[in-house]
Amino acid sequence: MLVLESARTALAGAESSTGGGAVVDSLAQPVTLAYLAAAGLFVLACAGLSKHETAVRGNIAGAAGMAVACLAAIAIALSSDPAHGPLVTGLLIALAIGVGGVVGIVWARRVEMTGMPQLIAIFNGLVGLAAVVVGYNSYLSPDASSAALGGFHFGEVFLSTFVGGVTFTGSLVAGMKLNGTLPGRPILLPGRNWLNLGALVGSLALGAVFTALGDHSTWAWGCLVVMTLVALALGVHLVVAIGGGDMPVVVSIMNSYSGWASAFTGFLVDNDLLIITGAIVGSSGAYLSYLMCRAMNRSFLNVLLGGFGTDASTAAAAGGGEQGEIREVDATGVAEMLLDAKRVVITPGYGMAVAQAQYPVAALVEDLVDRGVEVTFGIHPVAGRLPGHMNVLLAEAKVPYDIVLEMDEVNDDFADIDVVLVIGANDTVNPAAQEPGSPIAGMPVLRVWEARQVVVFKRSMATGYAGVGNPLFFKENTSMLFGDAKDTVEAIDRAVETLRARPPA
Ligand code: TAP
Repeated sequence: MLVLESARTALAGAESSTGGGAVVDSLAQPVTLAYLAAAGLFVLACAGLSKHETAVRGNIAGAAGMAVACLAAIAIALSSDPAHGPLVTGLLIALAIGVGGVVGIVWARRVEMTGMPQLIAIFNGLVGLAAVVVGYNSYLSPDASSAALGGFHFGEVFLSTFVGGVTFTGSLVAGMKLNGTLPGRPILLPGRNWLNLGALVGSLALGAVFTALGDHSTWAWGCLVVMTLVALALGVHLVVAIGGGDMPVVVSIMNSYSGWASAFTGFLVDNDLLIITGAIVGSSGAYLSYLMCRAMNRSFLNVLLGGFGTDASTAAAAGGGEQGEIREVDATGVAEMLLDAKRVVITPGYGMAVAQAQYPVAALVEDLVDRGVEVTFGIHPVAGRLPGHMNVLLAEAKVPYDIVLEMDEVNDDFADIDVVLVIGANDTVNPAAQEPGSPIAGMPVLRVWEARQVVVFKRSMATGYAGVGNPLFFKENTSMLFGDAKDTVEAIDRAVETLRARPPA
């Protein structure tokens, strides 16, 4: 996706710098072919990125597609800029690529895995900004084909600028919330839904007047500038009102908006590839947001209007208080259980990411597999805070892909499992999801409690992301292992080694 972002921004920049796609005749065919090849490579990238085994190939296809697209866009820019000539245009493009490349490389090397959502949010914001800038550029100096479109072209300028403006500020606010620069709690203005509706209706009215005027008069300029300011304010207002925990879904929705902003920009600069990549990002971002919402059993509207357990009544219904006795276990106790087990399932969650426990978890799995214990992972679709969060962490620790299974692949097998290790997961293993009236009622969960023994790794009795109490902790077959997950998993691995070294009694 990041590759597509860069391609879209680069294409928009190169095309708009020359006032649109006035491709000289000798280049028309090769450019069309290059765009087709790049579009095909982008589709292959999306397909490849959908599975671990093909993810690296998918990334390479995306990068190759981006290279082809950039070369074609540069060729157009060099051949169709009569105002500056190929030398000046080439130097300007080289300068832009040089500065952008250096910033990109430095940034990519520094960013931690946990900082990826912020990085994606900022890239989305840049795509939105590019759409606004290209919109203004195209309004100021439309190319021949755009000018011929008349009112339709003004409609394109309006849409590109509006969606780009909302995406730009919305993404920046999402990035700052994820980064902790802005507080994660929702900031709610009185009558905020009316404010949003007013901004939307007002912008549509300004867009209608702007398109009907279809000129460069003071009134038309006024409509465009006021609409841009309203769009920028709307982006801020929409996102500050959403809690920090919902930012991953917001980032995914903004990703989708940035795709549509690029597609509109593609119409503006008459670039078919930009329209295609914009549509791919727009629809895949929307689908990803839908999948995330479905895996949390929530609707887009529910995410946009407020988070889980934010009102007092749901917090009470959540059963946040104590629910009976808990049993505690220590690392040696868990090591004994594991060495007696034949089949073990590990269900990791956000706490594994916080503790960075994936490396000791991988080492423990290796030791157990050496002892003949069958170990698999059961991954909930929204475990952690990003789609695929757990899969990336486990891949980083070199856990073999074939033992990392999805929730639906393990959920019917728990009755045959000897021990389940719930490492830093909470909502995704909460049986309350099966009780009507619970704030997470209907959310699909890993039914770990059906196994013979369950060990929950966490630091306290605190609730998870949804703020809902978890009856799993009080079940008879559940034991709690308190502590930082990295420390406790390392302690278990040491205990496994010690127990193995001990001569049989
Ligand atoms: P959570 O329900 O957030 O629970 C994480 C648990 O990890 C907490 O109970 C916490 O308990 C424990 N923990 C934190 N740091 C730890 C550490 N250093 N060592 C040991 N334990 C630690 O996690 P989950 O089960 O992965 O569920 C994910 C939640 O995020 C779901 O509600 C989901 O809807 C939401 N969400 C996910 C996404 C995506 S796409 N993944 C997007 C938006 C929202 P202690 O504090 O007691 O240690």
